[in-house]
Parts: sequence; C-alpha cells; structure tokens
Amino acid sequence: MPHRVQTFVTQMRPYDDASLAEAATLIRMGEPVAAPTETVYGLAADATNAAAIARIYAAKGRPSFNPLIVHVADIAMARRLVAFSPSAEALAEAFWPGALTMVLPRLPDCPVADLASAGLRTLAVRLPSHPAMRALIAAAGVPLAAPSANHSGGISPTRASHVLASLGGRIPFILDAGATSDGVESTIVRPEAGRIVLLRPGPVTAAMIEDAAGLPVVQASGEGISAPGQLESHYAPSKPLRLNCIAPAADQYHIGFGPGPSHYSLSARGDLVEAAANLFAALHEADASTLSRISVAPIPNEGIGVAINDRLKRAAV
Ligand code: TXA
Ligand code: MG
Repeated sequence: MPHRVQTFVTQMRPYDDASLAEAATLIRMGEPVAAPTETVYGLAADATNAAAIARIYAAKGRPSFNPLIVHVADIAMARRLVAFSPSAEALAEAFWPGALTMVLPRLPDCPVADLASAGLRTLAVRLPSHPAMRALIAAAGVPLAAPSANHSGGISPTRASHVLASLGGRIPFILDAGATSDGVESTIVRPEAGRIVLLRPGPVTAAMIEDAAGLPVVQASGEGISAPGQLESHYAPSKPLRLNCIAPAADQYHIGFGPGPSHYSLSARGDLVEAAANLFAALHEADASTLSRISVAPIPNEGIGVAINDRLKRAAV
C-alpha cells in the first residue's frame, strides 16, 4: 500500500514532566512529535534516524529534497555535528540559544541522517531558547530535526491549536506550551570566509549579525538548492492577499498595523516585535474568516519588519 499516510489519534497535552517524558519516548521510538520553539512550533524527530525523518516528510506532505533544521540542546551537541569557523563561533556566542540557524559543513562522522539534510554536505543547526524544546532534546538524548509543524505549503504554527488544525490525525502527539514569543521562523545564515550570507531573514537582524561577526552580511540571490527554502511559497494562505493596503475593500479581511480599523491588528501601538509574534495567528484567522480576500497594512521594512515583509511577500504569491 504505497503513499498511505499513517493515521493517528493526535494527543495534545500541556507541557509538564509527564507529557515531556511521553514525547521523548515517542521520539526514541522514531515518531515525530510537535513541540514549541521561541519562533514557531516544530515537528521534531530523531535526526539520526532516517526512518523518523521520513515520517516528518510523510506527515507534512513535504517534498523530500527540502532539507531540515537540526536542533541541539547545547553547543557541545552542535560540535559533534558540524565544523565551526571563527565567525560561526562568534555568532553562536552572540545569539545562541536563540532564533539564529547556521548552515555549516557536516563533520565526516556526523551522525545526522543524510535524509535530514537532503544529501547536502552542509547542515542547518540551531540551539533554540524555548525550555520545552531544549528539555525535549535533552530527554531524547539526540539532535532533533524539526521543520515548522504545518502541512507543506501551509502557514507556520505559532500555537498548538494551529498544529492540530494542520496536522491533526497525521501525527501522534503535540506538546502544548502556549503561543510562541518570536512568531516568525529563525534567521538562517551561512558564514563564509570574509562574509555572512543571509538565506532567510528572521528575528536576528542583518545589523545584529554584522555587529557580532564584524563581517558584512550579503543577501543570497539565485542560489538554487543551497537556499532551497527561498524558492518555496511556504507561507501561503488559501486566499488572495494584498500588501501595503491602506483602504481595504468590504470583502477583504484587513490585517492592521498601528492605529486605524482592522479585523486583526498585528500591533495597535506599531511595535514590530509584537507584530511578528502575531503575524501567523493573524494569517490563520484571515484564512478561516468568511471574507474572500485578505489585505495587510504597510509594515515598516526595518528590524524584524524585514522578516515580516519577507513572509508576507511569499504569502501574496
Ligand atoms: O524557526 C525555525 O527555524 C523553525 C523552528 C521549528 O525551529 N523551523 C523551520 O524549519 O522554519 P523549516 O524546515 O520550515 O525551514 C528550514 C529552512 C528551509 O527553507 C530549508 O530549505 C533551509 O532551512 N535549510 C535547511 N538546511 C539547509 C542547508 N543545508 N542549506 C541551506 N538551507 C537549508
Ligand atoms: Mg516551514
């Protein structure tokens, strides 16, 4: 019976010692488990077990050439997977634990399954700051590969209820620790000799990275498979979405920013960090509403606003 996705009764449990132990047991059995990070909820599985990785791809309905981020509990775990250049060391020192992912060369004896990095010789590694995810990695005792816990092409989940709506029946377990704090996916960089290549904007901004590394940050452009995430419409709601809209029509669900009427305000006081935390919840609400189109107010393209506009542009295609 090829192409059958296994069906589950999905358990959603509040994060505590008992649910953590249960989640870690499932991970060790090779099952994927949804768990929160400070950015978005991830669908986590044992990165050293190719069959477990395959179950992530199957549950998400994701094309298997798209490589995953591997999450570690501490720097020592990261050092067993990838080679750190001096600039990678400086960035880890400045931003880990936190919302920065680094694409680094795999070590020859790296135990991560090739399927997790889709056969690339590099690996995307992140040390998250969320206590639930760090406790899960430590309890499982292995690095965890974890893409965002949504069906492929859907909106990234910032609450356990978003995960349930998108992957319910396709995964066994969701660890619920409430809404995530950062709200957009981690910044992804590839440190190189003399420069840092920005593959995906996120909570850690280009200016912060230049400061910490003492090196220029350059945008990745036209890189093909070395920046595959940039080629996808990861963040798409199912309705047409208009950006930079100041006068929404009657059939548009309007996502606001700053003062003025809206169906869902990202931040009434015009705070970009608050707006990032609310972004995907607003898109989920807009998608679920009875209105046929979505409009979004202009968002200043500075700080984490760069990451917000990047996700909105992808949602609008
Ligand atoms: O905040 C986040 O990063 C969340 C949480 C769960 O940690 N994870 C996340 O994973 O956003 P995902 O799979 O949705 O996005 C990972 C991105 C993809 O665009 C993928 O193409 C890119 O990372 N990526 C992974 N490995 C790579 C590599 N070796 N080289 C270049 N890009 C890579
Ligand atoms: Mg994703």
